[in-house]
Amino acid sequence: MARLHPRKLVIAYFLISFLGMIVLMIRYGMNCPDSRSGNEDYRSILAKEESPLKQREEELNKLEKKLRTLDIILRRQFPNAVEYISQVLDDDIPTIYAVTPTHTRHVQKAELTRLSNTFLHVKNFHWIVVEDSVARTPLVTNFLAQTGLKYTHLNIATPSRYKMGENDPHWLKPRGVEQRNLAVDWLRENVNVNTSPGVVYFADDDNTYSLQLFEEMRYTKRVSVWPVGITGGLKFERPIVGDIGKVIGWYAAWRPQRPFAMDMAGFAVNLKLLVDHPTAAFDITVKRGYLESSLLSQLVKMEELEPKADMCTKVLVWHTRTEKPKWKEEDAMIAKGKPSDPRVEV
Ligand code: UGA
Ligand code: MN
Repeated sequence: MARLHPRKLVIAYFLISFLGMIVLMIRYGMNCPDSRSGNEDYRSILAKEESPLKQREEELNKLEKKLRTLDIILRRQFPNAVEYISQVLDDDIPTIYAVTPTHTRHVQKAELTRLSNTFLHVKNFHWIVVEDSVARTPLVTNFLAQTGLKYTHLNIATPSRYKMGENDPHWLKPRGVEQRNLAVDWLRENVNVNTSPGVVYFADDDNTYSLQLFEEMRYTKRVSVWPVGITGGLKFERPIVGDIGKVIGWYAAWRPQRPFAMDMAGFAVNLKLLVDHPTAAFDITVKRGYLESSLLSQLVKMEELEPKADMCTKVLVWHTRTEKPKWKEEDAMIAKGKPSDPRVEV
């Protein structure tokens, strides 16, 4: 058998590589930019694809220019508007958890209806409704189901020694305390504040809330505060804001010495702060008017409060109180054994 000489091997190797290269060049040479006809195809394809892209780029440039002009005009006329609008457009905005204690009475459905009509306009909103009752009532259950709002329905009855009697003056006992505490506990257990930021607002069922109020409170870092209209025997109560934009006291006539002399409607708390203070709660045993202070003094110092509503110069929430309806005629009909149709829910 003839032995393969190494020189023959080297020559064979070069020959095969050379032939391989020729084959490759023939196969792919057509698409190579160097080939004259291939170059034309390439250019026409590129031109075809580029033309709509160029058009879009021009449109985008025009829109960008328009946005820049709008931005400048907006900033000039409404200094806070641009930040506000971009935050609202952002889908990651913190959720507002409005906690509403509620109890059965003639005006309950009307109050809840009024509230839900407001809340439907608030972005990223979750309503926590807590009934002061031993069981959740059909009225509130059915009502909530048709609101279209995101909600959680809870209940806890106020212990009987703290419960308001039918004819007690409205200020005699604290109201809505156990209900708010239950809601805060529910939030601590059910929301992961590291992935979904939230702000808690205690929204009683009889107040009147402007939509702007919710955007003022949305980016609360710890506790934000603002004035409340028609409260404390005054036109409004409000935190007093000093020169450097910090709260330095309270404009209040009734017990102004309270550590936090404001109504429940006058502040919101970042949910993380409540999670970080797992035992912080409203104290049902404190004396009249100290309910708000009982929670807040466990969470913040006065100088840490964040004044909202243009440094507490605007009233965006009103402590309205609904008149108790007079059902004299209804009572007379009941006495006669002719009550109104009980199937009609009011
Ligand atoms: C004022 C404050 O605005 C309340 O936030 C605070 O709880 C109350 O004082 C207090 O010191 O306890 P006021 O308007 O007099 O409130 O109280 P209501 O509006 O009658 O009650 C506050 C909330 O608790 C309402 O949402 C109401 O529906 C609820 N509530 C009232 C109950 O859950 N159970 C009751 O027996 C009475
Ligand atoms: Mn009230």
